[in-house]
Amino acid sequence: MKKTLFACLTLILLLSCNENEALYKDPSAPVDKRVEDLLGRMTFEEKILQLSQFFIGDNDNANNLGGEKESVPAEIGSVICASDGNAEAWDLQRRALEETRLGIPVLFGYDVIHGYRTIFPIPLAQASSFNPEMSSRAAEVASLEATAAGVRWTFSPMVDIARDPRWGRIAEGYGEDPYLASQFSAATVRGYQGDELSDPSRMASCLKHYVAYGASEAGRDYVYSEVSRQTLWDTYLPSFKAGVDAGCPTAMSSFNDISGIPSTANHYTLTEILKEKWGLDGFVVCDWCAVEQLVNQGMAADRKQAAELAFNAGVDMDMVDSVYIENMDALVREGRVKMKDIDASVARVLELKFRLGLFEHPYPEGDFASKILLPEYVALSREAAGESCVLLKNDNAILPLSGNVRKIALVGPLAADTYEILGSWRARGKAGDAVSIAKALDGEYEVVYAQGCDFEGDDRSGFSKAVSAARSADVVICCLGEKAAWSGESASRSDIILPEIQTSLLAAVAAAGKPVVTVLSSGRPLDVRQIEPFSDAMLEIWQLGIQTGNAVADILSGRVNPSAKLPVTMPRSVGQIPVYYNRRSPARTGDMGRYQDISSEPAYPFGYGLSYSDFEYSDLTREGNILKVTVTNKSEIDGKETVLWFITDVASSITRPVKELKHFEKRLIKAGESETFTFEIDPERDLAFVDSDGNPVLEEGIFRIWASSGIIDTPFIEYEFKK
Ligand code: GLC
Repeated sequence: MKKTLFACLTLILLLSCNENEALYKDPSAPVDKRVEDLLGRMTFEEKILQLSQFFIGDNDNANNLGGEKESVPAEIGSVICASDGNAEAWDLQRRALEETRLGIPVLFGYDVIHGYRTIFPIPLAQASSFNPEMSSRAAEVASLEATAAGVRWTFSPMVDIARDPRWGRIAEGYGEDPYLASQFSAATVRGYQGDELSDPSRMASCLKHYVAYGASEAGRDYVYSEVSRQTLWDTYLPSFKAGVDAGCPTAMSSFNDISGIPSTANHYTLTEILKEKWGLDGFVVCDWCAVEQLVNQGMAADRKQAAELAFNAGVDMDMVDSVYIENMDALVREGRVKMKDIDASVARVLELKFRLGLFEHPYPEGDFASKILLPEYVALSREAAGESCVLLKNDNAILPLSGNVRKIALVGPLAADTYEILGSWRARGKAGDAVSIAKALDGEYEVVYAQGCDFEGDDRSGFSKAVSAARSADVVICCLGEKAAWSGESASRSDIILPEIQTSLLAAVAAAGKPVVTVLSSGRPLDVRQIEPFSDAMLEIWQLGIQTGNAVADILSGRVNPSAKLPVTMPRSVGQIPVYYNRRSPARTGDMGRYQDISSEPAYPFGYGLSYSDFEYSDLTREGNILKVTVTNKSEIDGKETVLWFITDVASSITRPVKELKHFEKRLIKAGESETFTFEIDPERDLAFVDSDGNPVLEEGIFRIWASSGIIDTPFIEYEFKK
């Protein structure tokens, strides 16, 4: 009897240790049980490797520090995979699954910020559409393409609030307003992740750069950001909270120093807020080498202390600098890092891998080439681009180009470009997939093309040909702008003007006396004082992706009626920065305290954008908590209009912005017709503010509420809130 019992127990023990039959490999088992089982089988070294991320592929981000690893251990937790086809990645995955003790699949991540191969407008452009649903659809396409290449984790959406156009990364986010950015944050997370993360065609998103990175001093990158707790909560955290609430399972700690505690070592933001208060259902990865950079920032004496500070603050996974691999063993032995915390972090990483279904679907499925650049993807990119162009000026309704425009002089460095228009963080996007403005117009008008000049430099030899083209044409389309590398990471600029060669070309062609339409492509708001006076019409297209040319042609021809509005204030000059709409009210109004040498008003405010239609706002009413406004399209052109709803808290226990966007709605209004837009006030959501501990505060008092086109405001309605 005893022998039989012993034999049974031995068999059970052997079976339970047999990796092939292990619970963690059973897809029908609950995720938490699979995590528990797997964690219990792991060695210390295997655990630390799961908390580490390396890089393979084309290191196409010049800012990436450090070289690629000679050999990536197959037990690595994650790899940033930047290459077409990813053959090297699949060999690594095969080794992870077949040549390691536990067969834990590698999680491949990548910066899929505005498309993977079908490149969409940069996020700042998408925000101009005030159409979060459009961004959700674009994110879904990005997910379908990226997962076809085996990427199951994107370092997106970037939801940093940015109010300083000198900062190159303003291009990557959704502008200056917490509410607008929150809507796009949630919509983009939903787009990437769909309803079920285990769907092999979906990928986990990552909120970045957590947090207040956009407050980097003077628009420089990687620097100090002076942020009060109040500002942290009311300005920089909301767009991250929206993403967490939308189900985003990861966040990336940022490079900046948050008022003395670098983000990557900031226990308050990473653990107390993100994990404890908000309940992030996932893990934190640091930005590229951000742990070792704590030494540069004067926070850590050496890499070992950097590892201790970052991990204990809440950074679960270490990106690329190997600081955890090198130091965790000693830190645990010395009691500076607790083993239970290591296990908790590893469990977070493993849980996401199980939720993604990586153990069941570790490789991309199907034929990659047949899953990219599908016609419907390209069509969506064109639609998104058309909705992202902001019409800033249109004197004498020069646009849309009238039927009697036959000959166009097309000039400027951007006119035939297919590379710069893809913007920063273009993933696997290729210039060869893009349609230039020149190509799109060529089939539609008689076009005389003369580049005129380059993006920069002082070669004016092309001016005369451009001026001759202008003289011979009915209208001049002058396409100016920034190079993709002038925005994005480590792309700060001390001024926000275009190179003089470009504005001189514009002045030269304008002197020909023909109407001039300036098409402006940039990754940031620009100072347009040397552009606007020479332009009868001015269209800010940001960087629109592979369908730039067709989208611009759609707008110039009138096939698409521009409907975008500025998601970020356009300063009159760099001297005005920071300038943003939801500022605090000054102690003195009128002209006191204003600049002596320049207007204190921006060139174009947040929400500004013209349409070919003429929208009239009327009949603002309130019944209880419900406000209504009627918008009539007085023109003969159907058009989409976004109604913005603002509030002002007249007096409160802390100063509040002069106005705050609390709701917006975009709708098509047919020519001659009217639509009624509604805003139902939820006091907790719309009238409360958040205090410096992150708690909502709803106070009684008078609020002013009104509707706006971004240019025209209705009168406000006073709303007295009583508890
Ligand atoms: C970069 C960027 C970050 C990106 C990461 C991985 O330095 O700051 O946005 O996701 O490294 O490429």
